[in-house]
Amino acid sequence: MRKEFSACYDLVVYQIYPKSFKDSNGDGIGDLLGVLSKLDYIKDLGANAIWLCPIFKSPQCDNGYDVSDYRAIDPMYGSMADFDRLLAAAHEKGIKVILDLVANHTSSEHEWFRQARSSRENPYHDYYYWAEEPLTDWRAEFGGSAWEYNEPTGEYYLHSFAVGQPDVNWTNPKVREEYKAIVDFWVAKGVDGFRCDVLDHISKDFEKGLDRNGPHLHEYIRELFGRDHLQDIYTVGEAETTEESILATCGEDRRELKSVFQFSHLAVGRKGRYTPVPHKMDEVKKILTDWQDFTAKHDLLYILLTDNHDRPWFNSRMGNDGALRYESATNIATMVYLLKGIPFLYEGQEIGCANSLFSDISAFDDVECLGYYKEQKGVLSEEKLLEEINFGSRDNTRRPFAWDASPTHGFTDASAPWLPYATRSDEINLASDLASEKSVWRYYRDLLALRREHVSIRRGSFKQVKKWKKDCFIYVREYEGEKILVVCNFERTQKITGLPEGRLLLSNVRRDGANGVYAPYECAVYDLTK
Ligand code: NOJ
Repeated sequence: MRKEFSACYDLVVYQIYPKSFKDSNGDGIGDLLGVLSKLDYIKDLGANAIWLCPIFKSPQCDNGYDVSDYRAIDPMYGSMADFDRLLAAAHEKGIKVILDLVANHTSSEHEWFRQARSSRENPYHDYYYWAEEPLTDWRAEFGGSAWEYNEPTGEYYLHSFAVGQPDVNWTNPKVREEYKAIVDFWVAKGVDGFRCDVLDHISKDFEKGLDRNGPHLHEYIRELFGRDHLQDIYTVGEAETTEESILATCGEDRRELKSVFQFSHLAVGRKGRYTPVPHKMDEVKKILTDWQDFTAKHDLLYILLTDNHDRPWFNSRMGNDGALRYESATNIATMVYLLKGIPFLYEGQEIGCANSLFSDISAFDDVECLGYYKEQKGVLSEEKLLEEINFGSRDNTRRPFAWDASPTHGFTDASAPWLPYATRSDEINLASDLASEKSVWRYYRDLLALRREHVSIRRGSFKQVKKWKKDCFIYVREYEGEKILVVCNFERTQKITGLPEGRLLLSNVRRDGANGVYAPYECAVYDLTK
């Protein structure tokens, strides 16, 4: 195993959407002191790192992914002193802090862009991409053309996302120096790593029509992160995920990123963002297995995840968020988090959160789904549009964390949060989960403890038990004589026999007298060590 990965294999990252985690000052918006008050909660669960989605100053057109000052905390989240307190407290508890680095674009309110757009002669003009006529026919991710007219200079600027998120021109060496200085600023404060937003977008090729993964991508990433003093920093990129490009970014001696997210298994069960398609968990299993094999072969880190702030809940689409919500949520967690890689958990996953059903578009905030709504209004019926948006909106996972069943769900003292609570928060909240015999939270805690206690789960090899190819995922993890068997049954009841005998370590239901029969979503973990 690569030396620099050794510590990475012990990480368990808990992703926080700061706006929706915990409000400490009663304004209905989560904040840094709210996060601080929940560090013990995170530690008790078994995570040892937090990734904070952007907390920097921002007009919030895309919830902070539109940064107007990379060195300032948005006042809505608190102050720099609050951040310093949070960082110190996290470190004291053995929790690492990972920040979100948004380097492909700034906010249109960023001082660089304010200057850049004022005249063609302004020294910041070249910090962005300009053209007299749109250079391409690219569509912006959040709707409309990717080129926006700028009156004062009589030019168009490129924005791959919202109009308020102009793309930064990385071909300009001054821009690269700026981002290096930003990284250094936070590293000097003591942060432990960065999650790098849409990093493959920083190099483009207009002539070839490439809005990402352009010819200078690897050179730029290396210039940013290849510097000696950053070699102990953990980095994970949101970037192109072909085998070839992952190797080019994370391969040995590349000095680019330690890891890159793999999202292909999260695309199963949907076409685009808003249309469900028939699916089987076996498709997810196949993708996971292939990546386990590929990352093992090339000694690469793999990220284990099912949820984040950009997708509706995985369990709602791929599992069962009804009568078998507990079984299904814990089964999915077992299937994914006992694989080889770094577990990334998203807030709310540990209590089995599920998608919402809203009947009015005013319950949504996400710039992406609102853009879609605007484009499709009049094309699709209101009912159909809401059905699609309820299915696919990123707001599903961005709703305030329900800590209890009270009217404000222990999230805030304000009468209304910034975004309506999930429609099932009275039923799905931490307090109710803990009061239930079937607690998703306790299962997650036990599962993460199992990872900690077994080196084979953290560092061992992965091998699928091929005899059982359908409707279940069975694999063995092994390291220097320690051997763990993981059995995850999917939707149907089935008898699973012929497996090696072992000592039961964990299961999501009582297995006494099961006789090889596994109920829907039942899973079990056995110790096979001789
Ligand atoms: C990916 C982020 O995860 C998403 O939330 C954001 O909207 C886009 N990048 C643009 O920054």
